Amino acid sequence: MAGERYDLWIRGATVYDGSGGEPFEADVALRGDRVAAVGERPVRAGAELDARGLALAPGFIDVHSHDDFAVILEPEMDFKVMQGVTTDVVGNCGFGAAPFGPGVMMAQAFHPGASFEPWEGYAGYFEALERAAPSLNVAVLVGHGSVRAGCVADQKRGPDARELARMRDAVREGLEAGAVGYSTGLIYEPGRNASSQELIELARELAAAGGLYATHMRDEGRGLVDSVLETLRIGASVEVPVQISHHKASGRDAWGLVSESIKRIDAARAGGADVTADQYPYTAGSTMLAAVLQNAFEDREGGGLGRMRGSDVVVSSAPGHPDYEGRSLSDLARRFGLDAEGAGRRVLEQAPAAIAVIHSMCEEDVQTVLAHPATMIGSDGIPSPGKPHPRLYGTFPRVLGRYARDQGVLSLADAVRRMTGLAADKFRLAGRGYIREGAFADLVLFDPGAVTDTATFDDPRRYPAGLPHVFVNGNAVVRDGAHTGARPGRPLRRS
Ligand code: ZN
Ligand code: CU
Repeated sequence: MAGERYDLWIRGATVYDGSGGEPFEADVALRGDRVAAVGERPVRAGAELDARGLALAPGFIDVHSHDDFAVILEPEMDFKVMQGVTTDVVGNCGFGAAPFGPGVMMAQAFHPGASFEPWEGYAGYFEALERAAPSLNVAVLVGHGSVRAGCVADQKRGPDARELARMRDAVREGLEAGAVGYSTGLIYEPGRNASSQELIELARELAAAGGLYATHMRDEGRGLVDSVLETLRIGASVEVPVQISHHKASGRDAWGLVSESIKRIDAARAGGADVTADQYPYTAGSTMLAAVLQNAFEDREGGGLGRMRGSDVVVSSAPGHPDYEGRSLSDLARRFGLDAEGAGRRVLEQAPAAIAVIHSMCEEDVQTVLAHPATMIGSDGIPSPGKPHPRLYGTFPRVLGRYARDQGVLSLADAVRRMTGLAADKFRLAGRGYIREGAFADLVLFDPGAVTDTATFDDPRRYPAGLPHVFVNGNAVVRDGAHTGARPGRPLRRS
């Protein structure tokens, strides 16, 4: 290789290669969209980047995003690439980009007033991604809820035989277009109306295509363990890989249950099942206010989100009513002279697309889940206006800084693995997730002593610190801590 020309020569970094193994010092050369050499060799390169003192890792893979429409509307995707994310997996929690009609309903919830050129099925969505040319790569899950909304006439019942056949066709179309799997959102309309049997019937398409089943389970409150068992049953009955979305115990009454859910996951893994999970590193979640009221207040036992108090629920986005943003339902209840649930209804009447942050978890559970070797990192960030949950801007640096470096919940090499190699293997993203010769040059350089999230609940739109350079397909999208404007991302079709 001596004498061969490279485009960029990254010198002296400590390489965390995505495998979880010990980091090592090496020079890494890029040519075109690939890593062309790892090691110390005498080569000539077009440019040099002195990376002494920095860690070099594969680009982070956000396995749980809701950026289906953001990648088209805001293709620079600053909130993700500034935290080192080079690949987003969209289509989570049952919300997918096709069929177009139901997909755009979700877009309206997160991006009020936005409009799109219609697309046909997932094949059309992939074309829209090509046209959008975002700064990062995008892998796609088919959303069960969107498919159901497009195929079933009466959402309160199960599909009849014809409707089920249409749903299967829609899932198959997505997988053939290149989706990596399909997702469910079993606390949301209309996914919550689906029986296990319906989900199994659809998962047969996954088995045929080699896709995975990702699920926002029916109950993350006191019914967490039952929900995990349902998920494992669905996976086992059609032998498909399973991804438990945002693994957590939600609501005070459920705290501690993650130890039980982990036991079930470990038992299934020991029996040979391919079961993994993802997590965002915060004790608060976030979702549509309508779903919070339905799950945490209407159902007095505490439904899929566990039982919430008014002070636990903070309005984060209320289009047209910024004065509600940052206020809890108990605050608003006093202001309106209503109870917390009534205050939530009042907000929804005025801002049907309102989104809330819910302070629903305990720190110990967050750490228990993060310490588990089968947990990968997924932001679950909601790219909404207002004051979005800070996970949208801070997830990955927070795991590296707060949880790996400062608290030692996991090693830095393991933290990198959970964001890269583990995710690429599970989601079958060929050539991604590892630093090795021939891999795609999706890369992050960060300062292990300084990397940190800075986004807070009060001030969420803040970029992290200590993460100066990010490359996507060999192109710098972040240089010296600033977005370059480059948009070299690609849609990643299942391999
Ligand atoms: Zn979810
Ligand atoms: Cu989600």
